[in-house]
Amino acid sequence: NIEQKVDSVIALMTLKEKIGQLVLYNGSWDVTGPPSDVGNKEKYEKLRNGEVGAMLNATSVAGTKELQKTVMENSRLKIPLLFGYDVIHGFKTIFPIPLGESASWDLEAIKKSSEIAAKEATASGINWAFGPMMDISRDARWGRVMEGAGEDPFLASKIAVARIQGFQGDDLAKENTLAACAKHFAAYGFAEGGRDYNTVSIGEYELHNTVLPPFKAAVDAGVASMMSSFNEIDGIPATGHKGLQRDILKNTWNWDGFIVSDWASIAEMIFHGYAKDRTHAADIAIHAGNDMDMEGRAYEVGLEKLVKDGKVEEKLIEDAAKRILRVKFELGLFDDPFRYSNEEREKTEIYTKEHLQIARDVAKKSIVLLKNDGNILPLKKDAKSIAVIGSLADDKDTPIGSWRGMATPNSAVSLLEGIKAAVSSSAKISHAKGVEIGVGERSFVRSLKVNRDNFDGIENAVSVAKEAEVVVLALGEEAFQSGEARSQVSIELTPPQQKLFDAVYAVNKNIVVVLMNGRPMALPNIAEKASAILETWHLGSTSGNAIADVLFGDYNPSGKLPVSFPRHGGQAPLYYNVKNTGRPVNQDGMVFWSHYTDEKNDALFPFGHGLSYTDFEYKDLKVSAPTFSAGGKLSVSVTVKNTGKVKGKEVVQLYLRDLIGSLTRPVKELKGFQLIELGPQESKTVTFTIDEKTIQFYTANKKWEAEPGDFKVFIGGSSKTELESNFSFK
Ligand code: IFM
Repeated sequence: NIEQKVDSVIALMTLKEKIGQLVLYNGSWDVTGPPSDVGNKEKYEKLRNGEVGAMLNATSVAGTKELQKTVMENSRLKIPLLFGYDVIHGFKTIFPIPLGESASWDLEAIKKSSEIAAKEATASGINWAFGPMMDISRDARWGRVMEGAGEDPFLASKIAVARIQGFQGDDLAKENTLAACAKHFAAYGFAEGGRDYNTVSIGEYELHNTVLPPFKAAVDAGVASMMSSFNEIDGIPATGHKGLQRDILKNTWNWDGFIVSDWASIAEMIFHGYAKDRTHAADIAIHAGNDMDMEGRAYEVGLEKLVKDGKVEEKLIEDAAKRILRVKFELGLFDDPFRYSNEEREKTEIYTKEHLQIARDVAKKSIVLLKNDGNILPLKKDAKSIAVIGSLADDKDTPIGSWRGMATPNSAVSLLEGIKAAVSSSAKISHAKGVEIGVGERSFVRSLKVNRDNFDGIENAVSVAKEAEVVVLALGEEAFQSGEARSQVSIELTPPQQKLFDAVYAVNKNIVVVLMNGRPMALPNIAEKASAILETWHLGSTSGNAIADVLFGDYNPSGKLPVSFPRHGGQAPLYYNVKNTGRPVNQDGMVFWSHYTDEKNDALFPFGHGLSYTDFEYKDLKVSAPTFSAGGKLSVSVTVKNTGKVKGKEVVQLYLRDLIGSLTRPVKELKGFQLIELGPQESKTVTFTIDEKTIQFYTANKKWEAEPGDFKVFIGGSSKTELESNFSFK
């Protein structure tokens, strides 16, 4: 068995070799021979000596094979390398950004997209994905909102599991599956002010009830590795957080995978003011349970001496090395270090027609119809004239989004291309670019050279809009406005885009806004005036086709928001599952209640919201019994009817409110959802089971348990639903 094999390898290893397994280097170099530059020469020597456990960002079969060969042909013990890469929403075939894909609430489709990403990455030599990212994020200013599954721990947990299953399959040793990495452990999404890498001060109960559930779900799903986060939590950098890593993850949850640091974050404990030098940082991190050092150069500098000085017990290093070796065995690397070096697969299994088709399928399911006044959508394919306006409309790069893997720049199907391919030959499609998005020339936003020049100005956009029956106006954010280190104070449309909208609206009221963005945006003006709004995120390689599928009704939109869309950026952080506070309501015009004096408290488009081209009616909410007790359960059912003329899908959502707790409880919490499809006038009874697990939370006893008490249960098509009943747990 694997444990015996791991032990037998460990028994042969020197201390230096054990430490070597804990080292993760970035890079690749010309595969025809050893590197010529000093930095890479040093890495090359360490590889030859068996002092490196893994590489990141080395891609292609030729590149990874050469590195693996260097180890296999030169090192004493020939322990194969792991090859890690940020496989975030596809490898070469690009799927919707994870936030967008989460809007599908379609776990099968999400699993499939990770499966394809794993297939392509492994065909290019990769055997370890730095994903899925499962940070709960409630602050739209944070750039990495785009990488996660949104604001809700229940939904995020289900999606985390689907992604892990997609990556890891049922057997890690298959050549088309890879090791997943749940990240970032923990609370990275709670950065103060939404500024990336910033301080986090989260309480113990919030941490357990909101942040940790997706990670626990990942552990239960058998995730092979985790990545610690850059932030500190209440004074302790996550990388050096023993309570989180060694106590919760490894001891309480009994997880046997390995933890990798984020890039240089062990050494960054020096900047945090928590470690005095790299050796001290290594001392803290290894005791805290962080197993692998990503480019921090702390373990290789410090650990050997720390052991010799008696400050670190060798068995700690041994435990870390064992965890890494275990995954290498599970991946089958000891049987065949070149399992992922298949040139034939690299030629035939990447960016295939089939993969693009699957990407289009997930993409159309990820689109959320936010508004559709007067049923302006779907558009007719033989419409007399459609004006497609906006610089994002013919943009072939933005839809690829941030964290784009190996995507070719400018390779997505643009909105304009998608529309042209969908309409009948009689339809007249006109196009005006209008104005620049106006994010400025900050190089970290504009980091790729893309085809977004030749702006023809507002006047041209207006004259094109005037002539058309309907305007499809593409607005939003460029690809690199979100992602790592892309936090923004403003989550509104840029001023040039606002102006463009107003000018077009002045001459044509039939506007369908197609939003492309990586974060929730505050769009009060557009929300009021546009006839329809389609939230399309950054949808990936097949973006334009998928949007056209929805615009013209080939696919009836079924997406639901995984995050709340605010009325104003100043509402951040905004989320539906809030606490009630001691002053929740406005009594008799009182000033002293929990509110803003210049804006409403709630979202403009709430969590779970999403329209369809048909309507769904919810009725007959029934609870099978008024109470249940430990070991028991009850069922809650509702009848959903499609009252319209076309078939459609609906995400039926169940929320609970625990009225009194040993800790204050949220006003609503998602506890179940089912994606159903109904034909015109068809009804279905949807049933959910509620048991002790459903109502458990991390209580004032510091335990996951169910507390006796009264509960409200709500079912509906969004978090705003008011269809309710109740039950008690005795
Ligand atoms: O995986 C990422 C992480 O999410 C952010 N820092 C860099 C890592 C490796 O690219």
